[in-house]
Amino acid sequence: MKQFLKDVLQDLGETPKRLNSKYFYDHTGDGIFQQIMNCEEYYPTNCELEIFQHKTTELARVLKNGFDTFDLIEMGAGDATKSSYLLKEMLRKKFDFTYMPIDISADMIGHLEKQLPEEIPGLKVKGLNGEYFEMLTHASQISPKRKVILFLGGTIGNFETNAALDFCRELRSYLQKGDVLMIGFDLKKHPDVIRKAYNDAQGFTRAFNLNLLNRINRELGGNFVLEQFDHYPSYDPATGACRSYLISLAKQEVCIEGKVFTFEKDEYISMEISQKYSVEETESMAFNSGFKPVNHFFDSRHWFLDTVWQCE
Ligand code: AVJ
Repeated sequence: MKQFLKDVLQDLGETPKRLNSKYFYDHTGDGIFQQIMNCEEYYPTNCELEIFQHKTTELARVLKNGFDTFDLIEMGAGDATKSSYLLKEMLRKKFDFTYMPIDISADMIGHLEKQLPEEIPGLKVKGLNGEYFEMLTHASQISPKRKVILFLGGTIGNFETNAALDFCRELRSYLQKGDVLMIGFDLKKHPDVIRKAYNDAQGFTRAFNLNLLNRINRELGGNFVLEQFDHYPSYDPATGACRSYLISLAKQEVCIEGKVFTFEKDEYISMEISQKYSVEETESMAFNSGFKPVNHFFDSRHWFLDTVWQCE
């Protein structure tokens, strides 16, 4: 049975029901996420872009970490818009490195391997198509060089805090003493700013959530009626958890591959967490997972943090 089906049957069988937000990103979901990133209210992308555009020199120096030669590995590279500023700067400084983007999308990796060396002459690119940790193992097998890892976008926020710590610990186990990691965290801030970012006026975030029900219909033969679900975004300043839910508007049954799921009126499906952190919380996470935080890069409003951790 394919993993997507297995996970959906399992997660909708739980009480309370949930779905995994990593499945938001099919072709349609990728397009909606682009619209989210371009909309007025969604700030994280612009914050991080500002860091890469305005702190490029310092970023390049810190990430080099004294290595003569290294592999620059980006987990979940996407189209590498942000990192391209860094790559250009590192080449300008004549650093000796290979850029290794990891992405689950073979299309994206193919595109990067062709496009980036054209756009950035002299750049060495080795794309790695697959899951993060499998590709990190592969990277160590094909190259003995020191590793500099980028994990941007605040993707770590899509884990519950305990799972995020586990993820950092596991990531650490694939690295060596002295290797560095730059990881992006969305920071706690005025709750209104966060709530609006995850409840945009044009309804992109709502569509992003509902698209997963549609994807289940398309790929797993489900029969969700989208009009029967409401998008409910929330942010709790006490915990920093920004969560989205879909609420069943009536008592109804949904059938997926012959399995029937009953939804009560007002029952929710937990869809996504985008955890927000304080700077101190990110530092504890570093120490508790075998890293030492060595640099903080903020945008001008201090809404987002790209922090550099060294392996201890
Ligand atoms: C891609 C995980 C960073 O959590 O902010 C955007 C995804 N969800 N709007 C985030 C998302 C709703 C985004 N990340």
